[in-house]
Amino acid sequence: MPSEQQCSPEKISLPIGIASIPFAAHQSYSQSVFELGRALFYDVTLSGDGDISCASCHKQEEGFADAGNIVSKGVGRESGMRNAPTIINVAFQSSYFMDGRVLSLEKQIEDALRSPNEMYATDSIVKQAVLKSSRLSRLWNTAFGDQEVSLKGISTAIGLFTRMIVSGSTRHDAFIAGNQSALNQQEQRGKVLFEGKAHCVKCHDGPHLSDGLFHSTGLHTHYYDKGRYYVTYSNGDIGTFKTPTLRNIALTFPYMHDGSLPTLRSVIEHYNVGGKQFINKSADIQPLNLTSDEMDDLEAYLHAFTDSSLIRNACLSKP
Ligand code: HEC
Ligand code: HEC
Repeated sequence: MPSEQQCSPEKISLPIGIASIPFAAHQSYSQSVFELGRALFYDVTLSGDGDISCASCHKQEEGFADAGNIVSKGVGRESGMRNAPTIINVAFQSSYFMDGRVLSLEKQIEDALRSPNEMYATDSIVKQAVLKSSRLSRLWNTAFGDQEVSLKGISTAIGLFTRMIVSGSTRHDAFIAGNQSALNQQEQRGKVLFEGKAHCVKCHDGPHLSDGLFHSTGLHTHYYDKGRYYVTYSNGDIGTFKTPTLRNIALTFPYMHDGSLPTLRSVIEHYNVGGKQFINKSADIQPLNLTSDEMDDLEAYLHAFTDSSLIRNACLSKP
């Protein structure tokens, strides 16, 4: 067991500009709720077929995503529609899922538990998982005393654990904190391109490298998955998706909502040609005319967003 202190919010390096981890309303950090949430995050008995946990698709060693799988397989090995995103720094987001259809993390977690594409459990399966396991029951009692086992408590605990998955100590962070040698020359050239000629920063900006808004990057001429449209039913939102964070991006291949781009290089090439023709494509997606060397530099810089301490942090691994 990792020591208790290691897991506390004070031990987490936050990105520059972020003062604290936002916990759910009316809730502050609690070590016992964290430990319950951690156990639940890794527990397969919460799923419809007893085979899938949150960690099946959000693997710590893969940047809390599902590297290598275009779309993830949920219960019964059925494929979902979307590529599993990283869940790093989700505590700071204001909307969840790639179409932003849910506004609270705890509600998002309840959806993940119930979704046929994910864990396909009923509320009763989830509650029974806690009641039937002496280990989970003990963790529940430590966290919530004699409160009856409820889906709300379960999503609160998983939510608190998930809020602690924070990345803020990459080489990119060290560089902006003033350590000039944190990035090598090539990565520094990549950073200049990211913020200048390639203007990636127009959407991938701020402490989490995302504006949290919805755009179409012209990935397709016809979007099978209509994205944000499913929430607003506005034609202008067809094919728009929430800008993902680029933290740990080197680990979370393949890319885009449908996993259709296999490598970082293919993503850069997609942007370099200005995407495909699509009616809702953002005006900020234009041909970039990057040379092959410039694409190398940009790609090198994207590797500086990898947080090796986070993916090795024993606090966040399977208890
Ligand atoms: C079968 C694979 C799978 C399982 C199991 C799964 N997820 Fe996910 N998760 C996904 C996919 C795919 C998405 C994106 C879905 C979408 O946008 O519609 C997602 C989205 C999310 C998001 C939103 C990320 C964002 O940027 O908006 C969070 C948070 C999350 N999952 C947490 C969890 C938790 C906690 C569990 C366990 C209760 C879980 N997931 C179980 C595949 C999975
Ligand atoms: C107009 C806003 C915008 C600009 C400019 C932009 N992006 Fe994106 N980026 C997005 C959106 C939105 C997505 C998700 C698209 C999807 O899933 O269809 C995305 C996805 C990505 C992904 C895949 C993330 C994942 O988890 O699958 C990478 C990598 C990426 N962008 C890098 C870049 C780079 C490098 C640049 C500059 C060359 C750039 N982006 C410019 C909005 C933008």
